[in-house]
Amino acid sequence: MSILIKNGHLVNAAEDFKGDIYIEGEHIAEIGENLKRDADQVIDAAGKLVFPGGIDPHVHLDMPFMGTYSADDYSTGTLAALHGGTTMVIDFILQTQGKSLHDALTTWQEKSKDKAYGDYSYHMAVTDYNEDTKKEIRQMVEEEGITSFKTFMAYKGALMIDDNQMVGLMTEVKKCGGMVTVHATNGDMIDHLIQKAKKEGNLSPLYHYLTQPEVTEAEASARFGDMANYTGVPAYIVHMTCEGALNSVREATKRNQVVLAETCIQYLVLDASLYDKGFESAKWVMSPPLREKKDIDSLWAGLEQGLIKVVATDHCPFTWEQKKMGEDDFSKIPNGHPAIEHRMELLYSEGVAKGRLTLPKYVEVASTNAAKLFGMYPRKGCLAIGSDADIVIFDPQERHTISVKTHHMNTDYSGYEGHEVTGKTKTVILRGKVAIDDGKVHIEKGYGQFVFRNKVDGKL
Ligand code: URP
Ligand code: ZN
Ligand code: ZN
Repeated sequence: MSILIKNGHLVNAAEDFKGDIYIEGEHIAEIGENLKRDADQVIDAAGKLVFPGGIDPHVHLDMPFMGTYSADDYSTGTLAALHGGTTMVIDFILQTQGKSLHDALTTWQEKSKDKAYGDYSYHMAVTDYNEDTKKEIRQMVEEEGITSFKTFMAYKGALMIDDNQMVGLMTEVKKCGGMVTVHATNGDMIDHLIQKAKKEGNLSPLYHYLTQPEVTEAEASARFGDMANYTGVPAYIVHMTCEGALNSVREATKRNQVVLAETCIQYLVLDASLYDKGFESAKWVMSPPLREKKDIDSLWAGLEQGLIKVVATDHCPFTWEQKKMGEDDFSKIPNGHPAIEHRMELLYSEGVAKGRLTLPKYVEVASTNAAKLFGMYPRKGCLAIGSDADIVIFDPQERHTISVKTHHMNTDYSGYEGHEVTGKTKTVILRGKVAIDDGKVHIEKGYGQFVFRNKVDGKL
């Protein structure tokens, strides 16, 4: 099977230019102007942008969490992602405390087997670091292609590890050629504030926001950065939301230390005024919570300055019925919101169309940097000869409105209902096959493949 994409405005992280792409089988075979190739299918991309497929390195599919499971599985989640131009996701495997990393891997392999539409990989969340777990790290990196290890500094009792375990894990991961990533908030302080709020009878979703103030994230981010720099492990902070946490990255950079930061689309687009809506605010109960306008400005500046390397989603969807588990107590509302489908379009609309991001910068933070940092470049994350033909053809002019009525995620509400967007994903090619065209699906469930990742060093 061959495809010729003609007359597109091609965008990579380092350049953008007018040209054609010729795809043979699963890979890009040629890029240039006026290519003369006989192809099985010709797509005219005149007036369209042509990007490498989006990579969302922070999603939670079919994940057991807070007494329930996230509502999108590998099938619905990766298909919704494709509709929005994300061709690959990295999901989180959760080790059960007291059990092995391999046990958890087997569970996630079963969850994903023959189910995914889009490509995927796994981060291994280490929730119980001990002498046995330590022995599994090298096997994960070398035999399973899982080169990033997620840690939680919050969610005590289920996911959180302490600093003793963190430093041990960092030391071992560094030796094995992996990266440590973190949910950086001070879990003990948050638990204290939650207990206090509940004792005082403050049980509405607003108190989810008020019990995770900026200092809880700023403190943990700085502490994690210091431990990472002491051990020398490549370190990556997920879902950064606020000025205080970003300042810790800025300070580390001034000391020539490297701490990589990711933010998520919701923290660039939505703000904490949404916690003023009574129980409806449960739609935006996520951790960390949405922040203030000054934080949104800091995050956009952090992207422009190169301090924030990646924009992800932390897609962790729950239906309204599931959210109602916390109707009488905000601490029981499952944390997370649906976004996997909207990241590329919202980031284009709020970033490029509003003049905050250049086109190459957009591709860098939506695709290329994730491919580089997580050991998949140049197979993924760029338009280049020999790379996987994961390609998005995007109409930069088309305007549309986000709604639960049209989204493909498995939730009965949208956190972005009525949000107007400029720019629409028209055609998505995954490993040389048209997967989505004008909203129609052309691949089968199970087409998505696991991506074995290489060792990483934290460098871009
Ligand atoms: O609210 C969130 N973020 N839910 C998913 C788990 C996590 O902390 O990433
Ligand atoms: Zn988290
Ligand atoms: Zn997450």
